[in-house]
Amino acid sequence: MQAWSDYQNEHKDRFLQELFELLRIPSISANSSYNGDTARCAEAVKQSLLNAGCDDVEVCATAGHPIVFGQKIIDPALPTVLTYGHYDVQPADPLELWTSGPFEPVVVDGKIYARGACDDKGQMFMHVKALEIMSKTGTLACNLKFIIEGEEEVGSTNLGKFLEENVDRLKADIVLVSDTSMISMEHPSIETGLRGLAYMEVEVTGPNRDLHSGVYGGAVANPITILSQMIASLHDENNHITVEGFYGDVVDLTDDERSALNTAPFDLQEYKDELGVKNDWGEKGYTALERTGVRPTLELNGIWGGYIGEGAKTVLPSKANAKISMRLVPNQNSHKIAELFTAHFNKIAPDCVTVKVTEHHGGEPVVTPTNSIAYKAAEKAIATTFGKDPIPTRGGGSIPIIALFERILGLKTVLMGFGLDNDNIHSPNEKYDVVNFYKGIETIPHFHKNFAEMSRG
Ligand code: BES
Ligand code: MN
Ligand code: MN
Repeated sequence: MQAWSDYQNEHKDRFLQELFELLRIPSISANSSYNGDTARCAEAVKQSLLNAGCDDVEVCATAGHPIVFGQKIIDPALPTVLTYGHYDVQPADPLELWTSGPFEPVVVDGKIYARGACDDKGQMFMHVKALEIMSKTGTLACNLKFIIEGEEEVGSTNLGKFLEENVDRLKADIVLVSDTSMISMEHPSIETGLRGLAYMEVEVTGPNRDLHSGVYGGAVANPITILSQMIASLHDENNHITVEGFYGDVVDLTDDERSALNTAPFDLQEYKDELGVKNDWGEKGYTALERTGVRPTLELNGIWGGYIGEGAKTVLPSKANAKISMRLVPNQNSHKIAELFTAHFNKIAPDCVTVKVTEHHGGEPVVTPTNSIAYKAAEKAIATTFGKDPIPTRGGGSIPIIALFERILGLKTVLMGFGLDNDNIHSPNEKYDVVNFYKGIETIPHFHKNFAEMSRG
Protein backbone atom coordinates (compact mmCIF):
# COMPACT_ATOMS: atom_id res chain seq x y z
CA MET A 1 0.00 0.00 0.00
CA GLN A 2 1.27 3.39 -1.04
CA ALA A 3 0.39 5.16 2.19
CA TRP A 4 2.31 2.59 4.21
CA SER A 5 5.48 2.71 2.14
CA ASP A 6 5.38 6.52 1.99
CA TYR A 7 5.10 6.71 5.76
CA GLN A 8 7.84 4.12 6.28
CA ASN A 9 10.21 5.82 3.83
CA GLU A 10 9.72 9.14 5.46
CA HIS A 11 10.41 7.79 8.94
CA LYS A 12 12.77 4.90 8.37
CA ASP A 13 15.88 6.54 9.80
CA ARG A 14 14.03 7.43 12.97
CA PHE A 15 12.74 3.82 13.21
CA LEU A 16 16.33 2.59 13.22
CA GLN A 17 17.45 5.22 15.75
CA GLU A 18 14.61 4.23 18.06
CA LEU A 19 15.61 0.57 17.81
CA PHE A 20 19.15 1.62 18.73
CA GLU A 21 17.81 3.24 21.91
CA LEU A 22 16.37 -0.12 22.96
CA LEU A 23 19.52 -1.98 21.96
CA ARG A 24 21.61 0.29 24.18
CA ILE A 25 19.82 -1.03 27.28
CA PRO A 26 21.58 -4.18 28.56
CA SER A 27 18.38 -6.02 29.54
CA ILE A 28 20.09 -9.29 30.40
CA SER A 29 17.45 -11.35 32.16
CA ALA A 30 19.79 -14.07 33.43
CA ASN A 31 21.96 -11.72 35.46
CA SER A 32 20.33 -9.96 38.41
CA SER A 33 22.93 -7.21 38.47
CA TYR A 34 21.14 -5.92 35.33
CA ASN A 35 17.70 -5.83 36.98
CA GLY A 36 17.68 -2.03 36.83
CA ASP A 37 18.28 -2.20 33.08
CA THR A 38 15.56 -4.78 32.44
CA ALA A 39 13.11 -2.59 34.34
CA ARG A 40 14.26 0.46 32.35
CA CYS A 41 13.85 -1.50 29.13
CA ALA A 42 10.27 -2.47 30.04
CA GLU A 43 9.50 1.24 30.55
CA ALA A 44 11.08 2.09 27.20
CA VAL A 45 8.96 -0.56 25.47
CA LYS A 46 5.87 0.84 27.17
CA GLN A 47 6.71 4.34 25.95
CA SER A 48 7.30 3.11 22.41
CA LEU A 49 3.92 1.36 22.35
CA LEU A 50 2.19 4.51 23.59
CA ASN A 51 3.98 6.62 20.98
CA ALA A 52 2.99 4.14 18.29
CA GLY A 53 -0.69 4.50 19.10
CA CYS A 54 -1.62 2.05 21.85
CA ASP A 55 -4.46 3.34 24.02
CA ASP A 56 -3.32 1.78 27.21
CA VAL A 57 -0.08 0.15 28.16
CA GLU A 58 0.83 -1.32 31.50
CA VAL A 59 4.14 -2.52 32.87
CA CYS A 60 2.99 -5.51 34.92
CA ALA A 61 5.21 -6.51 37.81
CA THR A 62 5.87 -10.22 38.25
CA ALA A 63 7.96 -12.27 40.66
CA GLY A 64 10.72 -11.78 38.08
CA HIS A 65 11.09 -9.25 35.25
CA PRO A 66 8.06 -7.16 34.28
CA ILE A 67 5.71 -7.94 31.40
CA VAL A 68 4.60 -5.10 29.14
CA PHE A 69 0.97 -5.37 28.10
CA GLY A 70 -0.55 -2.93 25.64
CA GLN A 71 -3.61 -2.70 23.47
CA LYS A 72 -5.32 -0.72 20.76
CA ILE A 73 -8.96 -1.69 20.40
CA ILE A 74 -10.57 0.00 17.41
CA ASP A 75 -13.75 -2.05 17.03
CA PRO A 76 -14.75 -5.07 19.13
CA ALA A 77 -16.33 -6.58 16.04
CA LEU A 78 -12.95 -6.85 14.30
CA PRO A 79 -10.52 -9.71 14.87
CA THR A 80 -7.79 -9.24 17.45
CA VAL A 81 -4.13 -10.01 16.90
CA LEU A 82 -2.05 -10.68 20.02
CA THR A 83 1.59 -9.91 19.27
CA TYR A 84 4.17 -11.58 21.48
CA GLY A 85 7.85 -10.70 21.75
CA HIS A 86 10.58 -10.36 24.34
CA TYR A 87 12.74 -7.41 25.37
CA ASP A 88 15.20 -9.45 27.42
CA VAL A 89 18.47 -10.63 25.89
CA GLN A 90 21.09 -13.29 26.46
CA PRO A 91 24.30 -12.39 28.28
CA ALA A 92 26.87 -10.89 25.89
CA ASP A 93 29.95 -12.82 26.96
CA PRO A 94 32.56 -13.70 25.81
CA LEU A 95 32.96 -9.95 25.37
CA GLU A 96 36.43 -10.13 23.80
CA LEU A 97 34.98 -11.81 20.70
CA TRP A 98 32.75 -8.84 19.81
CA THR A 99 34.09 -6.45 17.20
CA SER A 100 32.03 -3.61 18.68
CA GLY A 101 30.30 -3.22 22.03
CA PRO A 102 27.29 -5.53 22.43
CA PHE A 103 25.22 -2.61 23.73
CA GLU A 104 26.65 0.01 21.37
CA PRO A 105 24.66 -0.76 18.20
CA VAL A 106 26.30 0.04 14.87
CA VAL A 107 25.43 -0.62 11.25
CA VAL A 108 28.25 -2.24 9.29
CA ASP A 109 27.69 -3.48 5.73
CA GLY A 110 23.96 -3.09 6.09
CA LYS A 111 23.78 -5.13 9.30
CA ILE A 112 22.85 -3.96 12.78
CA TYR A 113 25.33 -5.37 15.30
CA ALA A 114 24.19 -5.56 18.92
CA ARG A 115 22.98 -8.09 21.47
CA GLY A 116 19.24 -8.36 20.84
CA ALA A 117 19.47 -6.93 17.29
CA CYS A 118 17.65 -10.01 16.01
CA ASP A 119 16.66 -11.90 19.19
CA ASP A 120 14.31 -10.31 19.83
CA LYS A 121 14.38 -6.51 20.16
CA GLY A 122 14.86 -5.92 16.44
CA GLN A 123 12.07 -8.30 15.51
CA MET A 124 9.71 -7.26 18.30
CA PHE A 125 10.18 -3.58 17.46
CA MET A 126 9.07 -4.16 13.86
CA HIS A 127 5.59 -4.78 15.26
CA VAL A 128 5.69 -1.53 17.22
CA LYS A 129 6.62 0.39 14.09
CA ALA A 130 4.01 -1.46 12.02
CA LEU A 131 1.43 -0.35 14.58
CA GLU A 132 2.67 3.22 14.20
CA ILE A 133 2.34 3.03 10.42
CA MET A 134 -1.19 1.60 10.52
CA SER A 135 -2.27 3.91 13.27
CA LYS A 136 -0.84 7.11 11.70
CA THR A 137 -2.24 6.28 8.26
CA GLY A 138 -5.63 5.34 9.71
CA THR A 139 -5.48 1.82 8.29
CA LEU A 140 -5.74 -0.45 11.30
CA ALA A 141 -7.63 -3.54 10.20
CA CYS A 142 -7.55 -5.51 13.46
CA ASN A 143 -7.53 -4.82 17.16
CA LEU A 144 -4.07 -5.21 18.60
CA LYS A 145 -2.77 -6.56 21.87
CA PHE A 146 0.87 -6.83 22.84
CA ILE A 147 2.67 -9.00 25.35
CA ILE A 148 6.35 -8.11 25.45
CA GLU A 149 8.02 -10.09 28.20
CA GLY A 150 11.38 -9.87 29.92
CA GLU A 151 12.04 -13.51 30.80
CA GLU A 152 12.00 -15.46 27.55
CA GLU A 153 15.71 -16.18 27.69
CA VAL A 154 15.35 -17.60 31.19
CA GLY A 155 12.35 -19.81 30.53
CA SER A 156 9.36 -17.41 30.78
CA THR A 157 8.90 -18.52 34.37
CA ASN A 158 6.27 -15.95 35.27
CA LEU A 159 4.45 -15.54 31.97
CA GLY A 160 2.33 -18.71 32.34
CA LYS A 161 0.87 -17.34 35.56
CA PHE A 162 0.23 -13.98 33.87
CA LEU A 163 -1.70 -15.75 31.11
CA GLU A 164 -3.75 -17.69 33.66
CA GLU A 165 -4.60 -14.53 35.60
CA ASN A 166 -5.47 -12.48 32.51
CA VAL A 167 -7.46 -14.85 30.32
CA ASP A 168 -10.16 -12.24 29.62
CA ARG A 169 -7.82 -9.36 29.02
CA LEU A 170 -5.83 -11.47 26.56
CA LYS A 171 -8.80 -12.56 24.46
CA ALA A 172 -7.71 -12.61 20.83
CA ASP A 173 -8.03 -14.58 17.61
CA ILE A 174 -4.41 -15.35 16.89
CA VAL A 175 -0.94 -14.91 18.35
CA LEU A 176 1.61 -13.37 15.99
CA VAL A 177 5.30 -13.76 16.80
CA SER A 178 8.50 -12.62 15.10
CA ASP A 179 11.20 -14.47 17.02
CA THR A 180 12.27 -17.15 14.54
CA SER A 181 14.22 -17.23 11.31
CA MET A 182 13.62 -17.61 7.59
CA ILE A 183 15.86 -19.40 5.11
CA SER A 184 17.02 -16.26 3.28
CA MET A 185 15.69 -13.12 1.65
CA GLU A 186 15.63 -15.03 -1.66
CA HIS A 187 13.83 -17.95 -0.04
CA PRO A 188 11.37 -16.55 2.47
CA SER A 189 9.91 -19.17 4.80
CA ILE A 190 7.65 -19.56 7.81
CA GLU A 191 8.52 -21.88 10.68
CA THR A 192 5.63 -24.21 11.40
CA GLY A 193 7.01 -25.82 14.49
CA LEU A 194 9.34 -25.30 17.42
CA ARG A 195 11.13 -27.89 19.47
CA GLY A 196 10.55 -28.34 23.17
CA LEU A 197 13.29 -28.31 25.76
CA ALA A 198 14.27 -30.29 28.85
CA TYR A 199 17.27 -28.74 30.59
CA MET A 200 19.19 -30.70 33.20
CA GLU A 201 22.16 -30.17 35.45
CA VAL A 202 24.18 -33.07 36.81
CA GLU A 203 26.70 -33.30 39.59
CA VAL A 204 28.98 -36.26 40.10
CA THR A 205 30.69 -36.54 43.48
CA GLY A 206 33.60 -38.84 44.20
CA PRO A 207 35.60 -38.44 47.40
CA ASN A 208 34.28 -36.11 50.11
CA ARG A 209 37.05 -33.53 49.42
CA ASP A 210 39.60 -32.59 46.79
CA LEU A 211 42.57 -34.97 47.04
CA HIS A 212 46.25 -35.06 46.12
CA SER A 213 46.17 -36.86 42.76
CA GLY A 214 49.42 -38.66 43.49
CA VAL A 215 48.61 -39.79 46.99
CA TYR A 216 45.09 -41.02 46.14
CA GLY A 217 44.93 -41.15 42.30
CA GLY A 218 44.53 -44.67 40.96
CA ALA A 219 42.62 -45.97 43.94
CA VAL A 220 39.76 -43.47 44.05
CA ALA A 221 37.41 -42.71 41.15
CA ASN A 222 37.98 -39.33 39.54
CA PRO A 223 34.51 -37.76 39.07
CA ILE A 224 35.65 -35.97 35.89
CA THR A 225 36.60 -39.28 34.30
CA ILE A 226 33.38 -40.94 35.43
CA LEU A 227 31.23 -38.00 34.26
CA SER A 228 33.02 -38.00 30.89
CA GLN A 229 32.34 -41.72 30.47
CA MET A 230 28.71 -41.30 31.41
CA ILE A 231 28.32 -38.38 29.02
CA ALA A 232 30.05 -40.25 26.20
CA SER A 233 27.60 -43.12 26.63
CA LEU A 234 24.56 -40.87 26.06
CA HIS A 235 24.95 -41.31 22.27
CA ASP A 236 25.55 -44.68 20.63
CA GLU A 237 27.62 -45.36 17.52
CA ASN A 238 24.75 -44.12 15.32
CA ASN A 239 24.41 -40.98 17.41
CA HIS A 240 21.09 -42.16 18.71
CA ILE A 241 20.37 -41.04 22.24
CA THR A 242 20.64 -43.95 24.68
CA VAL A 243 18.37 -42.61 27.43
CA GLU A 244 15.86 -45.41 27.90
CA GLY A 245 12.44 -44.53 26.53
CA PHE A 246 13.71 -41.27 24.99
CA TYR A 247 12.16 -41.89 21.56
CA GLY A 248 9.04 -43.59 22.94
CA ASP A 249 6.63 -40.77 22.14
CA VAL A 250 8.28 -39.47 18.96
CA VAL A 251 5.96 -39.63 15.98
CA ASP A 252 7.90 -40.41 12.82
CA LEU A 253 7.21 -38.27 9.80
CA THR A 254 5.56 -39.85 6.80
CA ASP A 255 7.70 -40.24 3.68
CA ASP A 256 5.77 -37.39 2.11
CA GLU A 257 6.40 -35.10 5.06
CA ARG A 258 10.07 -36.00 5.01
CA SER A 259 10.52 -35.29 1.34
CA ALA A 260 8.56 -32.03 1.64
CA LEU A 261 10.89 -30.97 4.46
CA ASN A 262 13.94 -31.82 2.39
CA THR A 263 12.85 -29.79 -0.63
CA ALA A 264 13.72 -26.60 1.26
CA PRO A 265 16.76 -24.99 -0.33
CA PHE A 266 19.77 -26.11 1.67
CA ASP A 267 23.40 -26.53 0.63
CA LEU A 268 25.30 -28.81 3.00
CA GLN A 269 28.71 -27.77 1.71
CA GLU A 270 27.89 -24.10 2.19
CA TYR A 271 26.59 -24.90 5.67
CA LYS A 272 29.81 -26.67 6.64
CA ASP A 273 32.02 -23.99 5.11
CA GLU A 274 30.15 -21.26 6.91
CA LEU A 275 30.61 -23.01 10.26
CA GLY A 276 34.23 -23.98 9.62
CA VAL A 277 33.64 -27.72 10.06
CA LYS A 278 35.03 -30.38 7.76
CA ASN A 279 32.04 -32.58 8.20
CA ASP A 280 28.60 -32.52 9.68
CA TRP A 281 27.48 -34.85 12.45
CA GLY A 282 24.28 -36.36 13.74
CA GLU A 283 21.77 -39.12 14.03
CA LYS A 284 22.30 -41.74 11.38
CA GLY A 285 19.64 -41.92 8.70
CA TYR A 286 18.57 -38.27 8.83
CA THR A 287 19.52 -35.17 6.89
CA ALA A 288 20.77 -31.99 8.56
CA LEU A 289 17.37 -30.35 8.07
CA GLU A 290 15.68 -33.31 9.76
CA ARG A 291 18.23 -33.43 12.56
CA THR A 292 17.64 -29.79 13.47
CA GLY A 293 13.95 -29.65 12.65
CA VAL A 294 12.07 -32.82 13.46
CA ARG A 295 14.42 -35.05 15.45
CA PRO A 296 15.07 -34.74 19.18
CA THR A 297 18.64 -34.10 20.31
CA LEU A 298 20.80 -34.08 23.43
CA GLU A 299 23.50 -31.43 23.84
CA LEU A 300 26.15 -30.68 26.41
CA ASN A 301 25.90 -26.97 27.18
CA GLY A 302 28.66 -26.78 29.74
CA ILE A 303 31.02 -28.96 31.71
CA TRP A 304 33.30 -28.11 34.58
CA GLY A 305 35.30 -29.54 37.43
CA GLY A 306 38.79 -29.66 38.87
CA TYR A 307 41.49 -27.09 38.31
CA ILE A 308 41.25 -24.74 35.33
CA GLY A 309 43.37 -21.84 36.56
CA GLU A 310 46.85 -20.85 35.44
CA GLY A 311 49.59 -23.47 35.51
CA ALA A 312 49.12 -26.95 36.88
CA LYS A 313 47.60 -28.29 40.06
CA THR A 314 47.74 -32.00 40.77
CA VAL A 315 44.29 -32.48 42.16
CA LEU A 316 41.80 -35.31 42.16
CA PRO A 317 38.63 -33.26 42.45
CA SER A 318 35.70 -34.13 44.60
CA LYS A 319 33.10 -33.04 42.04
CA ALA A 320 32.39 -32.70 38.33
CA ASN A 321 29.35 -31.05 36.77
CA ALA A 322 27.60 -30.61 33.46
CA LYS A 323 24.63 -28.85 31.96
CA ILE A 324 22.77 -31.02 29.49
CA SER A 325 19.73 -30.07 27.44
CA MET A 326 17.46 -32.04 25.17
CA ARG A 327 15.45 -30.58 22.29
CA LEU A 328 12.11 -32.30 21.95
CA VAL A 329 9.74 -32.86 19.09
CA PRO A 330 5.94 -33.09 18.94
CA ASN A 331 4.35 -35.55 21.34
CA GLN A 332 7.37 -35.67 23.65
CA ASN A 333 6.81 -34.10 27.05
CA SER A 334 9.55 -32.16 28.80
CA HIS A 335 8.75 -33.41 32.31
CA LYS A 336 8.54 -37.02 31.20
CA ILE A 337 11.86 -36.69 29.37
CA ALA A 338 13.41 -35.08 32.45
CA GLU A 339 12.26 -38.08 34.49
CA LEU A 340 13.59 -40.56 31.95
CA PHE A 341 16.91 -38.75 31.86
CA THR A 342 17.16 -38.68 35.66
CA ALA A 343 16.40 -42.39 35.94
CA HIS A 344 18.89 -43.23 33.19
CA PHE A 345 21.67 -41.07 34.59
CA ASN A 346 21.27 -42.57 38.04
CA LYS A 347 21.23 -46.05 36.57
CA ILE A 348 24.46 -45.68 34.59
CA ALA A 349 26.38 -44.18 37.51
CA PRO A 350 28.95 -46.62 38.93
CA ASP A 351 28.83 -47.02 42.71
CA CYS A 352 32.23 -45.35 43.19
CA VAL A 353 30.45 -41.99 42.80
CA THR A 354 27.14 -40.41 43.75
CA VAL A 355 25.14 -38.36 41.26
CA LYS A 356 22.64 -35.59 41.66
CA VAL A 357 20.39 -34.60 38.77
CA THR A 358 18.29 -31.43 38.80
CA GLU A 359 15.84 -30.07 36.26
CA HIS A 360 15.95 -26.47 35.02
CA HIS A 361 13.23 -24.75 33.01
CA GLY A 362 11.77 -26.57 30.07
CA GLY A 363 9.12 -26.16 27.44
CA GLU A 364 6.86 -28.16 25.18
CA PRO A 365 7.20 -28.56 21.42
CA VAL A 366 4.62 -27.04 19.10
CA VAL A 367 3.42 -27.45 15.55
CA THR A 368 1.48 -24.61 13.98
CA PRO A 369 -1.20 -25.24 11.35
CA THR A 370 -0.58 -24.30 7.72
CA ASN A 371 -4.23 -24.50 6.68
CA SER A 372 -5.50 -21.74 8.95
CA ILE A 373 -6.68 -18.27 7.98
CA ALA A 374 -3.82 -16.79 9.98
CA TYR A 375 -1.16 -18.86 8.22
CA LYS A 376 -2.65 -17.98 4.86
CA ALA A 377 -2.70 -14.31 5.83
CA ALA A 378 1.01 -14.51 6.68
CA GLU A 379 1.78 -16.43 3.51
CA LYS A 380 0.01 -13.83 1.40
CA ALA A 381 1.68 -10.95 3.25
CA ILE A 382 5.13 -12.38 2.59
CA ALA A 383 4.27 -13.21 -1.02
CA THR A 384 3.29 -9.55 -1.46
CA THR A 385 6.42 -8.00 0.05
CA PHE A 386 9.01 -10.61 -1.01
CA GLY A 387 7.46 -11.44 -4.37
CA LYS A 388 7.61 -15.14 -3.53
CA ASP A 389 5.47 -17.62 -1.61
CA PRO A 390 7.12 -18.55 1.68
CA ILE A 391 8.17 -22.16 2.25
CA PRO A 392 6.97 -23.85 5.45
CA THR A 393 9.92 -25.12 7.54
CA ARG A 394 10.50 -26.59 10.99
CA GLY A 395 12.59 -24.54 13.39
CA GLY A 396 15.10 -26.07 15.75
CA GLY A 397 14.83 -23.49 18.52
CA SER A 398 12.32 -23.25 21.35
CA ILE A 399 9.88 -20.63 22.60
CA PRO A 400 8.27 -22.38 25.56
CA ILE A 401 5.40 -19.92 25.98
CA ILE A 402 3.89 -20.77 22.58
CA ALA A 403 2.55 -24.10 23.88
CA LEU A 404 0.98 -22.22 26.80
CA PHE A 405 -0.80 -19.74 24.53
CA GLU A 406 -2.66 -22.71 23.17
CA ARG A 407 -3.17 -24.53 26.48
CA ILE A 408 -4.17 -21.53 28.60
CA LEU A 409 -5.69 -19.11 26.08
CA GLY A 410 -6.77 -21.60 23.39
CA LEU A 411 -4.85 -19.58 20.80
CA LYS A 412 -2.85 -20.77 17.82
CA THR A 413 0.32 -18.97 16.77
CA VAL A 414 1.86 -17.82 13.52
CA LEU A 415 5.66 -17.67 13.64
CA MET A 416 6.36 -14.91 11.14
CA GLY A 417 10.07 -14.48 11.81
CA PHE A 418 12.52 -12.44 9.74
CA GLY A 419 15.86 -13.46 11.27
CA LEU A 420 18.45 -15.61 9.54
CA ASP A 421 20.09 -18.70 11.03
CA ASN A 422 23.49 -17.02 10.82
CA ASP A 423 22.44 -13.89 12.70
CA ASN A 424 24.59 -15.07 15.63
CA ILE A 425 21.80 -15.00 18.16
CA HIS A 426 23.14 -15.95 21.61
CA SER A 427 26.68 -15.62 20.12
CA PRO A 428 29.17 -12.77 19.87
CA ASN A 429 28.47 -10.25 17.07
CA GLU A 430 24.72 -10.83 16.94
CA LYS A 431 23.35 -9.03 13.91
CA TYR A 432 20.17 -8.25 12.06
CA ASP A 433 20.13 -7.03 8.49
CA VAL A 434 18.66 -3.55 8.13
CA VAL A 435 16.83 -4.85 5.05
CA ASN A 436 15.16 -7.59 7.11
CA PHE A 437 14.16 -5.06 9.75
CA TYR A 438 12.49 -2.84 7.15
CA LYS A 439 11.00 -5.78 5.26
CA GLY A 440 9.43 -7.05 8.46
CA ILE A 441 7.89 -3.65 9.19
CA GLU A 442 6.55 -3.59 5.64
CA THR A 443 5.08 -7.09 5.85
CA ILE A 444 3.25 -6.88 9.19
CA PRO A 445 0.51 -4.43 8.11
CA HIS A 446 -0.26 -6.76 5.20
CA PHE A 447 -0.74 -9.58 7.68
CA HIS A 448 -3.26 -7.50 9.65
CA LYS A 449 -5.13 -6.49 6.53
CA ASN A 450 -5.19 -10.04 5.13
CA PHE A 451 -6.21 -11.53 8.45
CA ALA A 452 -9.12 -9.12 8.80
CA GLU A 453 -10.27 -9.67 5.23
CA MET A 454 -9.91 -13.43 5.29
CA SER A 455 -11.66 -13.66 8.67
CA ARG A 456 -14.68 -11.94 7.17
CA GLY A 457 -14.73 -14.72 4.62
N1 BES B 1 14.14 -16.72 19.57
C1 BES B 1 14.73 -17.85 20.20
C2 BES B 1 14.22 -19.17 19.69
C3 BES B 1 14.41 -19.44 18.22
C4 BES B 1 15.52 -18.99 17.54
C5 BES B 1 13.47 -20.16 17.55
C6 BES B 1 15.67 -19.24 16.18
C7 BES B 1 13.64 -20.45 16.21
C8 BES B 1 14.74 -19.97 15.53
C9 BES B 1 14.50 -17.74 21.70
O1 BES B 1 14.79 -16.47 22.19
C10 BES B 1 15.41 -18.69 22.41
O2 BES B 1 16.60 -18.50 22.35
N2 BES B 1 14.86 -19.70 23.10
C11 BES B 1 15.64 -20.58 23.90
C12 BES B 1 14.78 -21.29 24.90
C13 BES B 1 14.67 -20.63 26.23
C14 BES B 1 13.91 -21.51 27.19
C15 BES B 1 15.96 -20.23 26.83
C16 BES B 1 16.29 -21.64 23.06
O3 BES B 1 15.77 -22.03 22.01
O4 BES B 1 17.36 -22.12 23.49
MN1 MN C 1 13.96 -15.00 21.01
MN1 MN D 1 17.01 -16.33 22.43
